[in-house]
Amino acid sequence: MQSFINYSHKHTQIDQNILNSNILECKQRLQCKYSEPDELALRLKLLEELTQFDLGQFLLINRGLNGYWTDYAINYPREQIDELHELEQCLLRSKPFYATYERQQIFKKINQTKVENGAHLAAIPCGLMSELLDLDFSQVNELQITGIDLDNDSLLLSQRKYAALNLTPKISYLKQDAFSLTINNHFDLISSNGLTIYLTEDKDVLQLFTKLYEALKIGGVLVTSFLTYPPLFPELSEQTAGEYNDDDHVARVVFGEILEVSWSCFRTTEQISGLLKQAGFNDITIYGDSKYIFPTCVVRK
Ligand SMILES: C[S@@+](CC[C@H](N)C(=O)[O-])C[C@H]1O[C@@H](n2cnc3c(N)ncnc32)[C@H](O)[C@@H]1O
Repeated sequence: MQSFINYSHKHTQIDQNILNSNILECKQRLQCKYSEPDELALRLKLLEELTQFDLGQFLLINRGLNGYWTDYAINYPREQIDELHELEQCLLRSKPFYATYERQQIFKKINQTKVENGAHLAAIPCGLMSELLDLDFSQVNELQITGIDLDNDSLLLSQRKYAALNLTPKISYLKQDAFSLTINNHFDLISSNGLTIYLTEDKDVLQLFTKLYEALKIGGVLVTSFLTYPPLFPELSEQTAGEYNDDDHVARVVFGEILEVSWSCFRTTEQISGLLKQAGFNDITIYGDSKYIFPTCVVRK
C-alpha cells in the first residue's frame, strides 16, 4: 500500500529536558527494583537503546502512542524495516504490535461494508483515520466522513492524508473530547479504536460507549476494540499467543517493566460485552486477531 504519511522520524518534537528527567526517573526505578546485576544490566541497556530512535523517545516521554505513532506502528513501510534501529524492529515485530496491525485489517473490512451512498461514517477518536480514509470509495458518489479527536497534530495529519488521497467523500473534523460529545442520532457507523485501552475504570469506558451510542442512528453500528489480558494473568487471559519468541520477551520487558506503558487496561470478552450491553448496544459479534490479543467488537444500536 502506498503511504501518504511521511514517516520521516522527524515528526515528533522531543522536549530534551522532559526526556532526560524521565530517563533518570526510569533508571532510578529500575535500580530499586532489580538487584540482580544481570537483570538490571539488561534493562539499563534496553533503556539506553530506547533513547536512540524517535519512537523510543516518544514512548519514554508519553508512555503511550498518539495518533501519528499508532498509525506508524500499523502502517510503517514493512519493506524498509531492516533500516530501523534493532530494538525498534523488535518492538514493531512483537505480538502486541502485530495484533494492532491485524486488528486494523479487521476494522477496515467491517467498515468497508458500511460504505454506501448517503452514509455518514465517523472515527472517534480518529487519529490519522486510516481506518476510514484507506477504504475503497470508488462505488459511491455521496458519503460523509467525520473525524473527532482531541489532538491537533492528529487532525492536521489526517487532513493532509485526506487531501493527498484525493477522496470523493465530504469530510469534517472536530476537535472535541469524546467523553463530552453531544451528538445525537447522527452516524451510520462509528469506528472507535484506541481509547478504551487507556481507561482503567469501567465507568469511563461505559461513559464513552454511552456517548457513542447516542451519536449513532437507530440501527447504526459501532466497531470498537479491547486488549485482552496477557498470559501473565493466567486466570483472565484468553490469548492464544503460544510460546513467546525473543522479540516478544524483549517487548514485554520494554513495555511492561521499563516504560510501564499506559495502554495496559486489559478486559475480558465478558467484561467488554457487559459494558457494551449496559450502554444499550445489541447484536454483539467479536472478531479476534490470530492470537486474540486485540479483538474487534461489532455492535448495533
Ligand atoms: C491510539 S490513537 C488511535 C487513533 C485511531 N483511531 C487509530 O486507530 O489509528 C488514540 C487517539 O485518541 C485521541 N484521544 C485521546 N483522548 C481523547 C479524548 N478524550 N477525546 C478524543 N480523542 C482522544 C488521541 O489524540 C489519539 O489520536
